[in-house]
Amino acid sequence: MRSKITVVGAGNVGATCAQRLAERGYADVVLVDIIEGLPQGKALDMLQSGPVVGFDSRLTGTNGYEETKGSDIAIITSGVPRKPGMSRDDLVLTNMKIVKSVTEELVKYSPKCIIIVVANPLDAMAQLALKVSSFPRNRVMGMSGILDTARFRTFLAAELEVSVEDVAAYVLGGHGDTMIPLTRMATVGGVPITEILPAETISKIVERTVKGGGEIVSLLKTGSAYYAPSAGVVQMVDAIVLDKKRILPVAAYLEGEYGINGVFVGVPAKLGKNGIEQIFEIKLTPQEQEALKKSADAVVELVNIMKI
Ligand code: APR
Repeated sequence: MRSKITVVGAGNVGATCAQRLAERGYADVVLVDIIEGLPQGKALDMLQSGPVVGFDSRLTGTNGYEETKGSDIAIITSGVPRKPGMSRDDLVLTNMKIVKSVTEELVKYSPKCIIIVVANPLDAMAQLALKVSSFPRNRVMGMSGILDTARFRTFLAAELEVSVEDVAAYVLGGHGDTMIPLTRMATVGGVPITEILPAETISKIVERTVKGGGEIVSLLKTGSAYYAPSAGVVQMVDAIVLDKKRILPVAAYLEGEYGINGVFVGVPAKLGKNGIEQIFEIKLTPQEQEALKKSADAVVELVNIMKI
């Protein structure tokens, strides 16, 4: 039997997620949006690509939640991007309302689902979804680490003229300026990058990684990244649906790991059919540990704005 996946938000990220997931063939996909006709039209269009691409996944578009009933996984992409002149607090409060109401509906119809949050500010929205759902922490997570890590790997592979597949790396921390690309642990074909790239080149790549989202926003002028974010979501869904037990950078609710308590931060986690099955504690240097703590503090500041 195919799994059932709900994608809330039929905008750039949501629609691309739905398309990528349908093409995997292992799940039926329900696309939800508040705009009348938008999810229905996009779902129908995607459905009609099935005979050409070769998938039998059913795709349904809706403005309500009845159709989402019994979903195994729910992906929350509904949210507005930060507009010029909008303060960070305004963004948090606007997206908070959306994520709160969406989570309530999802939980009502799919009390056993696993929630993957993509709406920004990512870590704060994941924390809100955890709180509103009252789910155990293994069933609520955020997608950001895979995206940040993918950017880091892309730039490293380009610099070294090697396949992206042979670059292994991790970016930890919150999804924002305080993220931590772990240069010490990045390798190319098993060789540490610190042995083959000058420190100056590495720091330029780190800086570009940290500002990766902004680089795309300034090119696009309107809207933000969605091809790489949706690919990140699908990698997480693959791990869960196929019970792959992959170790991926995931925004997870920490309860003492890394000395951090009660906040979402990007850390390596094992993903399988139960969601987050284990959080891995990498031995960090004092400097990295300090950076992670700083990153967690930045997430706490955002969470405090929501007063949850
Ligand atoms: N319920 C359902 N859908 C909603 C709701 C809601 N309450 N509020 C807004 N939406 C929908 C919008 O109608 C829109 O179609 O969410 C969609 C968002 O799509 P885009 O504006 O294209 O934004 P997108 O690029 O997909 O990004 C979505 O992901 O990466 C993050 O920062 C990004 O928070 C943003 C989110």
